[in-house]
Amino acid sequence: MKIAVLKEQAEGELRVAATPETVKKFIKLGAEMAVEKGAGETASISDAEYEEAGAQVADRVSVLKDAGIILGVQGPAPDSLNGMQKGALLAASLNPFGERARVDAYAGLGLEALAMEFMPRITRAQSMDILSSQSNLSGYKAVLDAAGEYGRAFPMMMTAAGTVSAARCFVMGVGVAGLQAIATARRLGAQVSATDVRAATKEQIESLGAKAIFVEDVAGIEGEGTGGYATEMSDEYKKAQAELVSSHIAKQDIVITTALIPGRPAPRLISDAQIQTMKPGSVIVDLAVEQGGNVEGAVAGEVVEKHGVKIVGHKNVPSRLAADTSALFSRNLYNFLSAFWDEETGGPVLDEEIGDAIRLTKDGNVVNERLLG
Ligand code: NAI
Repeated sequence: MKIAVLKEQAEGELRVAATPETVKKFIKLGAEMAVEKGAGETASISDAEYEEAGAQVADRVSVLKDAGIILGVQGPAPDSLNGMQKGALLAASLNPFGERARVDAYAGLGLEALAMEFMPRITRAQSMDILSSQSNLSGYKAVLDAAGEYGRAFPMMMTAAGTVSAARCFVMGVGVAGLQAIATARRLGAQVSATDVRAATKEQIESLGAKAIFVEDVAGIEGEGTGGYATEMSDEYKKAQAELVSSHIAKQDIVITTALIPGRPAPRLISDAQIQTMKPGSVIVDLAVEQGGNVEGAVAGEVVEKHGVKIVGHKNVPSRLAADTSALFSRNLYNFLSAFWDEETGGPVLDEEIGDAIRLTKDGNVVNERLLG
């Protein structure tokens, strides 16, 4: 089985879908590895390192020729797949809702497209979960980005010239990214608080040494839907949350927002009026900016200033730590494919639970029920 590793072509995408480490592991499984020239450059991996690991490094058309599996970080443009073999598996983060036309094009090309972000959140798939591995580092980077924009220090410092007080940092949305943001802000010495709609996160926040800010006593909310994800909240809840957040936010120096609801636009958590109550020089980082944004006025790809408050809206935050996120993404792909590797056929044979969840196209058709339903 030949596995092709493509150079990413999307603007600003610096990651790569295989590292020399995973190249070696795939070869051990019996695969033949072909890496497109320059694929690892932006993630600090040279062509020579891939060659040393045993891969063939070549141009895109040669890499795709006869490949039974194509690996990518983002979904490749369908017209960049000249030379690919019909029936090949494509495993990458495919943004199925946002890039529906591209999914149709993959079907037209006869690809079996596998969306890694649709990996079910079950125990045995944890090591294959790209959303977790990438969000974790995004949460970390969000805090560093905030620190970079903030004109003051994070920790309390007692100096001969007087005391510098600790920054107050509020994390909104405590999934994988939020938990890492809390831990990172704590390590930098900030006073950290956090909130989420899922009641289960309260204990997690407290166990990291942060203060939990929660809406209490509002009827009819649970906050947790299927697979551990959040659900859309009631109007009553949203009103109570807005009031609670308003009084808290006015006292914060740094706010990191990470709230997402699968398949829907990101919930709006901070209004322009709330930003006005913050001190000048405060910083907000909106990690949900590409899904519609948690913060009013946040602009994807920009750092804007409103009422003296900086709103950071970097796109593709995982790409800002491309060496580490590539290593983790590549391992997710390897853990996934190797778990289903079949020695007899020399390739992966997916089971129903995971295969049906992530498979978008097969035999010329779109087959995923989340796209059909
Ligand atoms: P996410 O990226 O979908 O959302 C981030 C956070 O925003 C979530 O905690 C969500 O509850 C919160 N949120 C949504 N709407 C909100 C609102 N209006 N106000 C405040 N917060 C709001 O979540 P992520 O990071 O993907 O994690 C979701 C869950 O999945 C977590 O419970 C996590 O522990 C679990 N998980 C399970 C895995 C497994 O078992 N394999 C792997 C990874 C995560």
